[in-house]
Amino acid sequence: MTDLEFHPVAGIFPMMTELEFAGLVADVRDRGLLEPVWLHRDGRIIDGRNRYRACREAGSDPKFRTFEGKDVELVPFVVSLNVHRRHLNESQRAMVAEKIANARQGERRDLVEISTMTQTDAAELLNVSRETVSKARKVATQGVPELAERVISGEIAVSTAAIIADFDEQTQHKLASMEDTRQIRALARELDHQEFVLRGGVALGLVASTENEWYTPARYLDAARGVLGGIDLDPASSPMANEIVQAAAFHTQTDDGLEQAWKGRVWLNPPYGDLPGKFVAKLVEEYEAGNVSAAVALVNSHCTDTGWFQPLWDYLLCFTDHRIDFGSAGREKTSTSTHGSVFAYLGPDPRAFVEAFSEFGAVVRRWT
Ligand SMILES: C[S@@+](CC[C@H](N)C(=O)[O-])C[C@H]1O[C@@H](n2cnc3c(N)ncnc32)[C@H](O)[C@@H]1O
Repeated sequence: MTDLEFHPVAGIFPMMTELEFAGLVADVRDRGLLEPVWLHRDGRIIDGRNRYRACREAGSDPKFRTFEGKDVELVPFVVSLNVHRRHLNESQRAMVAEKIANARQGERRDLVEISTMTQTDAAELLNVSRETVSKARKVATQGVPELAERVISGEIAVSTAAIIADFDEQTQHKLASMEDTRQIRALARELDHQEFVLRGGVALGLVASTENEWYTPARYLDAARGVLGGIDLDPASSPMANEIVQAAAFHTQTDDGLEQAWKGRVWLNPPYGDLPGKFVAKLVEEYEAGNVSAAVALVNSHCTDTGWFQPLWDYLLCFTDHRIDFGSAGREKTSTSTHGSVFAYLGPDPRAFVEAFSEFGAVVRRWT
């Protein structure tokens, strides 16, 4: 078999992954090649690079067909063949549309020769919105290469990648190299939310610190929500954490929960370092002043000897009989704590707290 050349139009769609390719080779060995490899009249391959390679690998003769249309019809022809055959998601299709839209003259001479399509036409051909194609262009022009690759491979959405592409290269590399795509999405949302304060390297700090944040697993929050009847305020949180906490309002490091007025039903899992004491003191103060109507707070059980913990002994406490696996930002990773935890209940319905929290450990009240 002689070596055939590839026409630039054959590069519009991504190559298969190694795994997909191995599957194709096996299939060709079993059943032969079912779909032909399409050639340009000049003999170059316009569609079927993977099939051609697979036939070579399997030692099987490929079937060829020649495209007899005009060159301006080449791109729509190859797109229609692939869109029907491959199961590409919207983001992957947008990356293809971006590739064939002509606005990047000069950069893509090979394709510019054969495609004079506008972004709008390319969007229509690939059945995606023009806006999605603009996002794809941002990823392709401003993003680091591995960011675009993860969209092309279908792992992350182009909308997520477009947010990331706005940040400095180091931040982009860091996010694009994370294995956990849910974590990438959550961090991108966080960056988007805080975008007005983050530029020039600060984002990387946020990514790093957010990675180190430990959030409360849902089952404890479900119990707290049950006891409180809902959470009006989480004074120490982040947009990502609040997806699970589901508080009607929350404060973050940016607006500083310690500087805000607290009211209603509060959930509190304070930040670490020297802050738990300050948050707990404010909680007790706001509760005793009647601003906070009820609250569940979660702190380390190895803090019971600190000065700031002492006021909590006046309330119902639940000492966990296990170590809570606090999920990291993306929630899939877990990290077993090196210590137990204690929940404190400040509110009018101690029985509800006992019923809901006994399954997590011993609920105690100070004798004197
Ligand atoms: C241990 S996490 C708990 C998050 C969430 N409340 C939960 O239970 O899953 C503490 C959160 O407080 C945020 N934080 C740090 N300093 C803060 C401040 N001064 N005001 C409000 N939130 C702050 C951190 O960014 C982090 O998201």
